[in-house]
Amino acid sequence: MEKTFVLVKPDGVQRGLIGEILARLEKRGLKLVAAKFLQVPVSLAEKHYTVHQGKPFYDGLIKYITAAPVMAMVFEGPFAVQAVRQTMGLTDPLKAEPGTIRHDFASRISRNLTHASDSPENAESEISLWFDGSEIVNWIKADEDWVIGDN
Ligand code: CMP
Repeated sequence: MEKTFVLVKPDGVQRGLIGEILARLEKRGLKLVAAKFLQVPVSLAEKHYTVHQGKPFYDGLIKYITAAPVMAMVFEGPFAVQAVRQTMGLTDPLKAEPGTIRHDFASRISRNLTHASDSPENAESEISLWFDGSEIVNWIKADEDWVIGDN
């Protein structure tokens, strides 16, 4: 089953939106398989955002993501990467569809509340960057067949 990495960024934590974001993903039918609350070291932020190194917003991005605690999570489900990104909305909240988290709770790209992996390959590398294998919990959710079952 596909897994994806999700971060509630410092603005989401400071604004008390962890529960709202988690609830939307849970209600979508995604299964939480790992979670941790942490202050991100600069070294981890730099590894996570290495692809953005050299971009005009890079230094600000590192400052933002290390400024206060974040909630890091792994969700699992069929097409989890696509489902989570759809629930989050486009990176720029002003371009995100109504009903998405970024549309409903944010208005600036510099304070866009969440990060979510953009491909299954990147999900795998982000999950292994943020979590040890032993922190991923393999469990069966009671309503699984009714939420993601095949016919
Ligand atoms: P995220 O999905 O975490 O991936 C990279 C992050 O960089 C993005 O969300 C935004 O937080 C940030 N970002 C991308 N483009 C810009 C921009 N033009 N200005 C400021 N921050 C940006």
